[in-house]
Amino acid sequence: MVKGIYIHVPFCSLKCPYCDFVSIEEKDVSIHKTYIKNILKELDLYLDKDYDIGSVYLGGGTPSLLSPDLVSFLIESIHKKINLKKVPEISVEVNPENYSFKDFKVLKESGINRVSIGAQSFLAKNLRSLGRGHSPEDIFRTIDSALKAGIKNINLDMIYGISGQSLKDLEEDLEVFTSLPVNHISAYMLTAYKNTPLGVKVKKGEYFMPDGDQLLKMFKIIDEYLEEKGFRRYEISNWAKEGYECRHNLLYWEGEEFLGLGVSAWSYIEGIRFGNTKNLVLYNNMIDKGKKPVEFYDLITPEEERKERIFLGIRLKKGIELDLVKDKMDFVNQIIDEGFAKLEKGRLVLTQEGVLVSNYISSRLI
Ligand SMILES: C[S@@+](CC[C@H](N)C(=O)[O-])C[C@H]1O[C@@H](n2cnc3c(N)ncnc32)[C@H](O)[C@@H]1O
Ligand code: SF4
Repeated sequence: MVKGIYIHVPFCSLKCPYCDFVSIEEKDVSIHKTYIKNILKELDLYLDKDYDIGSVYLGGGTPSLLSPDLVSFLIESIHKKINLKKVPEISVEVNPENYSFKDFKVLKESGINRVSIGAQSFLAKNLRSLGRGHSPEDIFRTIDSALKAGIKNINLDMIYGISGQSLKDLEEDLEVFTSLPVNHISAYMLTAYKNTPLGVKVKKGEYFMPDGDQLLKMFKIIDEYLEEKGFRRYEISNWAKEGYECRHNLLYWEGEEFLGLGVSAWSYIEGIRFGNTKNLVLYNNMIDKGKKPVEFYDLITPEEERKERIFLGIRLKKGIELDLVKDKMDFVNQIIDEGFAKLEKGRLVLTQEGVLVSNYISSRLI
């Protein structure tokens, strides 16, 4: 049963120097329109599946680069194919410089009830260091406009571990993040992917990333500050007020079936994981020919499913059943002794120290 639909919008007005997501600088409205029509044609190729949709998510790239009318057309057209009336969560990622109150009204009328705003930081120097095109005021205005339009379910994305960011800067940022009427915060540690301009600068020694000790201090400050303000961590990078955990993310982490549409989108249906081409021209060509734009299919065997449950589940605050890793008990005992993990109600759970090395731990566990 397909429980979620993800739609990838691969357009941005400016490519951020740290970004590794599939997106190109493209503001041409006619290209946006063609793409959205193709998304709907792609959906037609999957109408034989069983749907019980709990979440629709427009991510990117920058979905808010699309005109609100086009976003609304997309949601309403999906609704004509698959009933979205009872879907509890329809989210869209929004960059702070794009949408006004009127735009959010249009989104709200189409059924969108959650926005995820790429705030990143409220300190102008951090935004400059990240090469962002928005100001702190843009973020305040965007939150205010969404709320006034009746969209009450709001996430703010934060990035930490920025060059030159002190612990005091971080606390200042957290104070602003938590003073706002939002119910979800995602805090990501800045990653310098090697194929990005940021990655190249780091390699050349022109951009200094904080060391592991500093990052651990930052994570602890974030985790404790947010918990104190009533945001409970439910995953490595995600904190929410009670009942506002992102349904869409939970679908992924709990191994539910979902359909991904658009360039580079992944799906998991009927035991098969598959991923679309990352090339926009190829994507459009394949859709024009009535073909699924899929680049690879992977059959998920029970053993692979077990590995995925470990890899994804260890990210969750509730951790994984110990039974899943019973063949790795030496390593499990070692990370418990060293303070990277603990046992809670028979489940293996990462500590704050463990969160920072979660990729290493999960790769050892699988
Ligand atoms: C898929 S991006 C799209 C959001 C939106 N386009 C924006 O940038 O505001 C979702 C989030 O991932 C985070 N992110 C992207 N690249 C990152 C990186 N290299 N390191 C840490 N976080 C990153 C940012 O917080 C961003 O808001
Ligand atoms: S971080 Fe967001 S706005 Fe920047 S290039 Fe990536 S997707 Fe686009």
